[in-house]
Amino acid sequence: MARKKIALIGAGNIGGTLAHLAAQKELGDIVLFDIADGVPQGKALDLSQCGPVEGFDAQITGSSDYAAIAGADVVIVTAGVPRKPGMSRDDLLGINLKVMKAVGEGIKANAPDAFVICITNPLDAMVWALREFSGLPHNKVVGMAGVLDSARFSTFLAWEFGVSVRDVTSFVLGGHGDTMVPVVEYSTVKGIPVPDLIKMGKSTQERIDEIVKRTANGGGEVVALLKTGSAFYAPAASGIAMAEAYLKDQKRVLPCAAYLDGQYGVDGLYVGVPVKIGAGGVEEVIEIELNETAKAGLQVSIDAVKELLVACKGIDESLA
Ligand code: APR
Repeated sequence: MARKKIALIGAGNIGGTLAHLAAQKELGDIVLFDIADGVPQGKALDLSQCGPVEGFDAQITGSSDYAAIAGADVVIVTAGVPRKPGMSRDDLLGINLKVMKAVGEGIKANAPDAFVICITNPLDAMVWALREFSGLPHNKVVGMAGVLDSARFSTFLAWEFGVSVRDVTSFVLGGHGDTMVPVVEYSTVKGIPVPDLIKMGKSTQERIDEIVKRTANGGGEVVALLKTGSAFYAPAASGIAMAEAYLKDQKRVLPCAAYLDGQYGVDGLYVGVPVKIGAGGVEEVIEIELNETAKAGLQVSIDAVKELLVACKGIDESLA
């Protein structure tokens, strides 16, 4: 069986890390695409030379020509500009919308059968625009946000309870931004819901509230520390988990920015919800029962995503 092909559009911090992880996991051959002169080629060469040391077989190439992504099974998009300190994800809107147009057209022409994972921010708007520009089926275009946001939530919960991250399952819904909704009731340590752990005296409501806030600002906290860009290790690891679920038909249940056509009372928007990812792409949107607080939080998030789409349509008339 021929190896799978993974195209990474954007060979910056996340793109380079994605390539390294995909190679280490031998998910397939990798093409790094970027408009920056020499960068995809240079990173591809450097990463190829990890192969003998790490013992992976993957052909890694770099290109600035969309023809190089032809026939890709998975395309992961990080092309664009990341946040600088003081910038919100929404500030990126105008710049990255233009990038999505070029990328969407490149995918449409060269890799129309791919499973496409968008990481570029502001995520919920960019994944929607990328889908519009590429014309691919909605179940084959998905945004990476919830895996990262819940990884951040799980990390903080594991620290709080002093337990292995492997035993923490956490749940984040909604947009990838300040309006995300970390759902405490569905977050557990080995099946024990966080509210029960509070009752058991393992933490307090106040401390969990702080963790929820820290999760929602998780990306901003990293940006403030790095000063020259945004997080890349955990975003890349999250993107790879989604790509692997598709390539290996794992049927994993992962929170992703998925297209909703009626679920959760939402029509025609990408919003962070739990979905099942397998060989069919997004095979199912899982609708869970939400309490009133989570419902209200999700609504705020949905309204924020709607506003972004209005802004996108204002910038690019072809989206209206
Ligand atoms: N086509 C292809 N690549 C592009 C384009 C384009 N039209 N425009 C910019 N790029 C490339 C840049 O040359 C750069 O190498 O995208 C890459 C982005 O890499 P970084 O600046 O290192 O950003 P990164 O940290 O990887 O984040 C990428 O993901 O999480 C989001 O907010 C983040 O939107 C940002 C994206």
